Amino acid sequence: MKCFLTLLSALLLFGACSEKKTVTNTGPAGDSAMVVAAHPLAAQVGVAILKRGGNAIDAAIAVHFALAVTFPAAGNIGGGGFMVIRTRDGATNALDFREKAPAGATTNMYLDEKGEVIAELSTRGHLASGVPGSVDGMAEAHAKYGSLPWKDLLQPSIDLARNGFTLTEREAKWLNESQETIIKYNTTRPEFLIREEWKTGDSIKWTDLSYTLERIRDNGRAGFYEGKTADDLVAEMKKGKGLITHEDLKNYKSAWRTPLTGNYKGYKVISMPPSSSGGVCLLQLLKSVEPYPVGEWGFNSAKTVHLMVEAERRVYADRSKYLGDPDFFNVPTTQMLDDQYNDERMLTFDPEKATPSAHVKAGAIPGYESEETTHYSIVDKQGNAVSVTTTLNGWFGSYVLVPGSGFFMNNEMDDFSAKPGVPNMFGVLGGEANKIEPNKRMLSAMTPTIVEKDGKLFMVVGTPGGSTIITSVFQVIMNVIDHKMGMQQAVDAKRVHSQWLPDVIAPEYKAIATEDSLKLVSMGHTFKSRKGIGRVNAVLVLPNGKLEGGADGSRGDDIAIGY
Ligand code: DON
Repeated sequence: MKCFLTLLSALLLFGACSEKKTVTNTGPAGDSAMVVAAHPLAAQVGVAILKRGGNAIDAAIAVHFALAVTFPAAGNIGGGGFMVIRTRDGATNALDFREKAPAGATTNMYLDEKGEVIAELSTRGHLASGVPGSVDGMAEAHAKYGSLPWKDLLQPSIDLARNGFTLTEREAKWLNESQETIIKYNTTRPEFLIREEWKTGDSIKWTDLSYTLERIRDNGRAGFYEGKTADDLVAEMKKGKGLITHEDLKNYKSAWRTPLTGNYKGYKVISMPPSSSGGVCLLQLLKSVEPYPVGEWGFNSAKTVHLMVEAERRVYADRSKYLGDPDFFNVPTTQMLDDQYNDERMLTFDPEKATPSAHVKAGAIPGYESEETTHYSIVDKQGNAVSVTTTLNGWFGSYVLVPGSGFFMNNEMDDFSAKPGVPNMFGVLGGEANKIEPNKRMLSAMTPTIVEKDGKLFMVVGTPGGSTIITSVFQVIMNVIDHKMGMQQAVDAKRVHSQWLPDVIAPEYKAIATEDSLKLVSMGHTFKSRKGIGRVNAVLVLPNGKLEGGADGSRGDDIAIGY
């Protein structure tokens, strides 16, 4: 009895309990085209580009720059990201515009003389930034796939920045919460951002940023990596003892990569290869759960959650050992995605009992030695689809706003493993594969993904959320395929995260019904609840060919607009 009460009070404390509810909401519809993004104004920019005859890639570029203005905590030109493309003829491609470590970076740069990690050095301020990839990425995407002139894709964001726009309730709150940190980490006080109190409906203008966007409009990538923007950025780095140089900026190049593909219950899943861990981990997770009838077991039932968590601890253990920048580390992608390898990893799965993470290590690969981001999903009326996740890493990145050029810099260096066995800000571990090296890309969890059914476009999906990105995309795909939810319902549904270490299940509030939580505790699981997990933005192609949007409007300002 005492034990039962302890369990119950722990569950109530962590909010792991809920009543089972059926969610029946349907997302915004589109006859043939849709943009789902984190800010209504950015989504409108994308739709306007599509209506003018631009394709999904044109719209993605315009949305990217519009988010840099309207959602500057995550939308960016000072960060990086990943784009997965599926064109109307079924051809796929993936663009890696992830930041890179500056040439002056060293493996131990965040350690003190005793070899301990110095708090906040990789997460705040000038030393936390990698060399930004976003502008080069957008220019690359445009050169290969764009159909409208580049300048037309930049103009809407220039207008938003120059003329100003009104803050949503969430934006006003975020700005209020960030005032002190912004002041603390900037060498020059960004007066236009500092106010006693920002209120919903206040207007904000990003004047310096509007001129930077004009330079990018007129000079393409050179408008960012050379000239005034580069001078401002490098001058600020020098002032704040950061590492990024003119040489680093000039040398930055995004990379076209071959997307990873795998099958799940008759669907083809197309996702991002390293330097993101997203695609490898997502496909491993889907392979691990595929043999089980999770649809029958039910959404977030004890059996389903137990299976997901057991798969996740094995996959995240692999991630920590084998995944890093493929240009620097021999990532065993093929072996990690081998069916037999994943079956063998699940041989120790006990349907009745949790395997303590302390007993789970990365698998043996034969012959082998060794909260902020944003996602947008776009489908155009020709059937081209684009899935983009982009980030500064933390909320407002390093908090350093480049004076004169008006944009926030990322704190992506924290995604490297500063020291083996020491978790980063998302609690994930890494080692040799993801150690800091000059010009290397830090490992990401971003998982922009496109799903096909019978050779046709089926779903476009992705989310922010650090290490929870992979498990959120995993769950949304299962929600649609196994639990037969619509797109909005699949996005709204409560999420549960687990990542090997720490050895806990992290459910959103009321994600798991009380009786299922109790069963999971009796199997040996422990809980630590967390606030909203992810902000998924997705599009589903319905059987009649129309589109259903799924925007995470309850967890953010996200919106789907279709037509
Ligand atoms: O690349 C990554 O995995 C992280 N930098 C993403 C950060 C993130 O999603 C924060 N947002 N909630």
